Amino acid sequence: MLLIIPDVLDAEQLRQYRAALEAANWQDGRISAGHQAIQAKSNQQLAQDDPLVTQLGDFLLDCLSRHPRFMAAALPLKVVPPRFNRYTGGGQYGDHIDNAIFSVPGTAHRIRADLSATLFFSEPHEYDGGELVMQDRRIKLPAGHMVLYSSGCLHRVEPVTRGVRLASFFWVQSLVRQDDQRTVLLELDDSIQALRQQVPDSAELLRLTGIYHNLLRQWSQT
Ligand code: NI
Repeated sequence: MLLIIPDVLDAEQLRQYRAALEAANWQDGRISAGHQAIQAKSNQQLAQDDPLVTQLGDFLLDCLSRHPRFMAAALPLKVVPPRFNRYTGGGQYGDHIDNAIFSVPGTAHRIRADLSATLFFSEPHEYDGGELVMQDRRIKLPAGHMVLYSSGCLHRVEPVTRGVRLASFFWVQSLVRQDDQRTVLLELDDSIQALRQQVPDSAELLRLTGIYHNLLRQWSQT
C-alpha cells in the first residue's frame, strides 16, 4: 500500500503548526535511532516528552480520526503518537526499514507498525532534496498532504541541500494486518462510495456493503 492523502490540515492549521515548529526546541535525531538506523540518520527531532509534541500530535490524531480517506485506508486499531522532524543542511535518512514494534512512552502499550505515515509541513519549493524514496517513487508533497505506506517497505529521505523540510511521522497498527487484504477492502469501499452517489437505492449496493463488512469481520483482529 502506498497512498497519498491530501488536505489532512487546512491553511490556518498549517500556519499554526509551522509557527510552533519553527520556534521549537530541536534535538539531534540520532538520540532516538536504533542500532541499524543510527549510522544512516542525520536530522533533528523534537523530544518525545516535549509538551509541544503531545499538543501537536493529539490535534493531528483528532483531524485524522475525522478524515474518511485515512480511516478507510488505514483501518487504524492503534496509532503511535506522532513525532516531528526537521531536515536541513544536507540532513538525510539513508535506506532503512522501520522498526516493527513501538512502545508508547509512559504506558505498557506496544504497537505493531503495519503502516508508516509522513505528513509534510513545508511546501516543495521551500527546499531542495528531501524526497521520500521507495519502490522507484520519489515523494515530495504539498504542505498538509500525507503519504501512507507499508512499514515493511525499504525507504529513505534524500539529503536536503537547501532550505528546511518539516514533517510529522508516525505508525499505525491496522485492524487488518495483511497489506493485500487492506488494499482489497479500500478498493471495495471506494466502489461502494461511488455507487452510493450513482445508484443510492440499489439492492446490489446493499449487498456489496454487506460483503465489505463480512470481509472486514473475517480479516480484522482487535
Ligand atoms: Ni523510516
